[in-house]
Amino acid sequence: MKTDIRLYSALLTLALLTGCDLGPKSGRGFVFPEGDLARGQKAFVDLKCFECHRVDGVTGLPPPAVAPEKIVLLGGEVATVRTYGALVTAVIHPAQAQTTGAPGLDRKDAVMPSVNETMTVAQMLDIVTFLHPRYRKLPPPEYPVVP
Ligand code: HEC
Repeated sequence: MKTDIRLYSALLTLALLTGCDLGPKSGRGFVFPEGDLARGQKAFVDLKCFECHRVDGVTGLPPPAVAPEKIVLLGGEVATVRTYGALVTAVIHPAQAQTTGAPGLDRKDAVMPSVNETMTVAQMLDIVTFLHPRYRKLPPPEYPVVP
């Protein structure tokens, strides 16, 4: 049993070191300049993100413009943690995003519009800096312990 664990961790380390995703399109090597949280909140309003989103724990945003069932909450407790990369992907490449949206949201007619032609890089970085700390990872589910 002990050897198994050692073997598995050795294999895991090897897998991490060799990397499973190092093709030419890998995100490896990409380092973010830090954005500005307050400017991010302003950009979130300027780019009309508030029209479809509320942000967990943030007051002072204009009220959403879409029907209540279409409002997607950003932040709060999530089962899978949102990395910086995942949030940037959600903003600039929504079709590829590994995100969940709102519970019960009909993903067919709730589409996130593209802002790629209008959003500046600075706005993107500031928005991600604004949103990232709003996400909290849920503790892992508790499985019943079999005696
Ligand atoms: C017209 C409505 C609409 C607007 C405007 C909008 N979004 Fe979205 N957004 C959505 C919907 C719908 C989803 C859920 C998509 C899905 O999960 O398939 C989403 C998902 C997201 C997510 C991923 C959420 C998560 O944690 O899973 C982020 C981040 C996000 N939006 C940021 C933004 C930002 C930043 C802007 C402004 C630049 C913006 N959105 C503007 C509709 C909108």
